[in-house]
Amino acid sequence: MFKVEDIRKDFPILSRKVNGKPLVYFDNAATSQTPQQVIDVIVDYYSNYNANIHRGVHTLSQEATDLYEQARQKIQSHFNAKFSHEIIFTSGTTHSINLVANGFSSLLKKEDNIIVSALEHHSNIVPWQMLCERTGATLKVIPMNEDGELIMSEFDKLLTEKTKLVFVNHVSNALGTINPIEYIIEEAHNVGAAVLIDGAQSSPHIKPDVQKLDADFYVTSAHKICGPTGVGMLYGKEKWLKKLPPYQGGGEMIAEVTFEKTTYADLPHKFEAGTPNICGGIAFGAAIDYMNSVGFDTIASYENELLDYGTKKLLEIEGLKIYGTSKNKTSVISFNIEGIHPYDIGSILDKLGIAVRTGHHCAQPIMDYFKIPGTVRASFSFYNTKQEIDTLIEGVKKAKMMLS
Ligand code: ALA
Repeated sequence: MFKVEDIRKDFPILSRKVNGKPLVYFDNAATSQTPQQVIDVIVDYYSNYNANIHRGVHTLSQEATDLYEQARQKIQSHFNAKFSHEIIFTSGTTHSINLVANGFSSLLKKEDNIIVSALEHHSNIVPWQMLCERTGATLKVIPMNEDGELIMSEFDKLLTEKTKLVFVNHVSNALGTINPIEYIIEEAHNVGAAVLIDGAQSSPHIKPDVQKLDADFYVTSAHKICGPTGVGMLYGKEKWLKKLPPYQGGGEMIAEVTFEKTTYADLPHKFEAGTPNICGGIAFGAAIDYMNSVGFDTIASYENELLDYGTKKLLEIEGLKIYGTSKNKTSVISFNIEGIHPYDIGSILDKLGIAVRTGHHCAQPIMDYFKIPGTVRASFSFYNTKQEIDTLIEGVKKAKMMLS
């Protein structure tokens, strides 16, 4: 039985005060908080196993290697990848996307096109623009509607036999929209295009099955799902990971090095040059264990309750407009109050101990679509409560009064 009071005890940070007030943490889409179970794994690693991996014959190195590879298997099993070598550890979603975009440099021709969506984070736009600059390929954009949903009939029109790659987020970080990735993957595959799904915002709410989805690439960051920053993963189908060239050269990614020629290591090591974030990888595995112990069905249904409650309460405030009104969305509410800059609302909320994100959320094209500089974004997690939402509502009312 899910009891939020018990869950909250796992997160030491939730009992701290900010500006003399109990912390209300509603910036979960930027980064999630870390449970004691994951903190313990980090402390345990540096207290007992700290060593470089895949390199030493000594006990510490072997223990650290085993834990790191076990974490890879946990991630494989969580996302239901066919092989553990299809999971590449990276520094996060941005690194994962850049790795794939770089690899496609040698696979794209000038006459090819690649498709992005209007709902993307900058990290799923800029690497592809850079790829187009390198190759001469064209970047096309799936447009969105007023509810913040992608227009699938327009997507169908963009697809041609020259489309080589489609990349969309599973969930929009700025609006919370859940995109119809099943449809996108199927349609893209019908013209022979590969699909990369940015799962940074879906991973905290949805447990994806990459084989069932038939995604070619799926990427995310550990810190969005109660893990540490600086570590993430790239899932790639074996056939694609074999086809793509290495991203970085260095130690650990080679089979043999001479000054004449270097041959590369097998997957996953081909893409893992240099000493990785070993502790981070192990803690990523622990975070996945933690999330699964709460249960993704439980998480989704509780967060939906928070979303419905928060939406209803916020809309009672006169002059408040919510951006992102799809029926299919996660617990993210982006809003503005007429005539007030989002930054000013965010600053007052901070004084009241309430953490929200303000600004364009690294998704400027979405803000341009709505012709606004940015929004106030409250993003709820399974450790938040309705009482905290009440505190937010009081805070927003106060900010409105002070700033009107
Ligand atoms: N991408 C993160 C966010 O949406 C940082 O806040």
